[in-house]
Amino acid sequence: MYLTIEEEKMHDGEYGPALEWMMRFLSKYGEALGAKKLIEISSAVIDWEPGFTIEKLPPFVISDLKTRKVKVPTYGLLSVDHRHWKDMGVSEELYKKYTAEDELGSFGLARKMGIIPLYTCAPYLVGFVPIRGTHCTAKESSLPPYLNSMLGVMTSQDTFPSCFASALVGKTPEGGLHLRENRYGKLLVKVETKLTEEIHYDMLAISLGKQTGATMDIPIFSGIPKNIRLEHMKSLCGGLSASTGVGMFHIIGVTPEARTLEDACGGCKPEETISVDEKELKKAQDTCCTRGSPKVDLVVLGCPHYSLNQVERVARLLEGKRVHKDVKLWIFMPYSSRLVADSLGLTDVISKSGGLLLCSTCPILMGHCPPGTEVMATDSAKQALLAKELFGIDIWFGSVEKCIEAAVSGEWRE
Ligand code: F3S
Repeated sequence: MYLTIEEEKMHDGEYGPALEWMMRFLSKYGEALGAKKLIEISSAVIDWEPGFTIEKLPPFVISDLKTRKVKVPTYGLLSVDHRHWKDMGVSEELYKKYTAEDELGSFGLARKMGIIPLYTCAPYLVGFVPIRGTHCTAKESSLPPYLNSMLGVMTSQDTFPSCFASALVGKTPEGGLHLRENRYGKLLVKVETKLTEEIHYDMLAISLGKQTGATMDIPIFSGIPKNIRLEHMKSLCGGLSASTGVGMFHIIGVTPEARTLEDACGGCKPEETISVDEKELKKAQDTCCTRGSPKVDLVVLGCPHYSLNQVERVARLLEGKRVHKDVKLWIFMPYSSRLVADSLGLTDVISKSGGLLLCSTCPILMGHCPPGTEVMATDSAKQALLAKELFGIDIWFGSVEKCIEAAVSGEWRE
C-alpha cells in the first residue's frame, strides 16, 4: 500500500512508538483489504471494552499513548450505567475499571486522549451525524449499516484496533465501503406485505438473513413505505447486524444513494431477487422465539438503544400500572436522552411502575442477565437472537405493547 512521506515517517517511528504501532497496523490492515492508500476521515467511533482492548497493546505503546490526543473528533460508545450499575449486577471491580481516571481501558483515559463518550450503541440519536460523502470509521455492528445507508457516510465495518489507530492517525485504508464501486446493491428484496410496526423491520432483516445466509451482498429494498421513521431503520439495522454480514442497504426512493433502482445498482441490474411476504415475516418472528414457559422473568427493551419517542411510548403504556413482582423490566437508552427523560418526568413514571430506565449498556454487553433469568421477552430481534445464543434462555419476541403486557402480568400471551 502506498504511503505518503509523512506516513512513512510515522511508520518508521519518527513520531514516537504509539503512532508507529498504529501506522504499521493500518498498513497491514490496508494490505489485507487490498487498499491502495490511506484516506482522511472526518470522525471515528470506538467501542471501548475494558479487558479486551488497549491492555493488549505492547507496554511501550501504552506508555506513549497516555500523552497522545486523537487526531479527529472521536466518540466512545458504551460503558456501564452510572446510576444503576449495582441494580444490573455489575461488580465493583468492573465498575471501577470502566470509570477509573487513569486505568487503561477506562473512559477516564479516553477523556484524556480527547475521546468523547456518548454512552450508547445508537450515537446518531444523540448528535453523531457525520456529513454525507465523508469517511469515518465505526465499530458496533448495527452502526455501520445506519451510517452508510441512511446518512450516506462512507464507513467499513471496522474492528476496535483499526478504529483506534484511525482515530490517532486521522486516516483509514481506502477499501470496502469507502470505495463508491463497492456500495452498489446486487440483491433486490421485494417487500410484499405492509410494514407498520418497528418489529416488522426486525422481522424483515431476519427474513433476509434466513433466505440468503450471512450474505455480504448489499440488499436493495423495494416496497417499503416512504413515511418510515428513524426508529424503523434502527430496528432494521439491528436485525441486519444479527442475521447478515451486510454493512449497507438501499431503499429505493428513500436512502440517499438510491433515488432509483438504477442508482442503487450503479446502472446495472440486480443479480438476484427475493421477496418477503407476510408468511416470511411470520417465519422470521418464529426464529426469534423459543416458545418455552410463558412465565417471563426479564423484559428487555431498547436494542439498539431506544429513542426518546420510544421511551415516551413505554411510559404511556406503563402509566398507572405495576410491573409484576417476579419480573424485571429493563429499558435502555442513550445517557444524554435519559437526562431529557428525567426532565420530562418519564423516568419517574417508569420507576414508579417498577421498571428501570438504563443507559450505556445492555445484557449482551454486560454478558449476563439478572441471576435466575430463564425467560426473556423483548421487542428486538437482535437482543432475542444474541440472548438465546449467549445465555441459553427461552425468548419471547413481540411488539412493545406485548412486552409491557408481559412485564405487568408476568406472562407472555400470544
Ligand atoms: Fe446495543 Fe446491546 Fe443491542 S449494545 S445494539 S443494545 S446488543
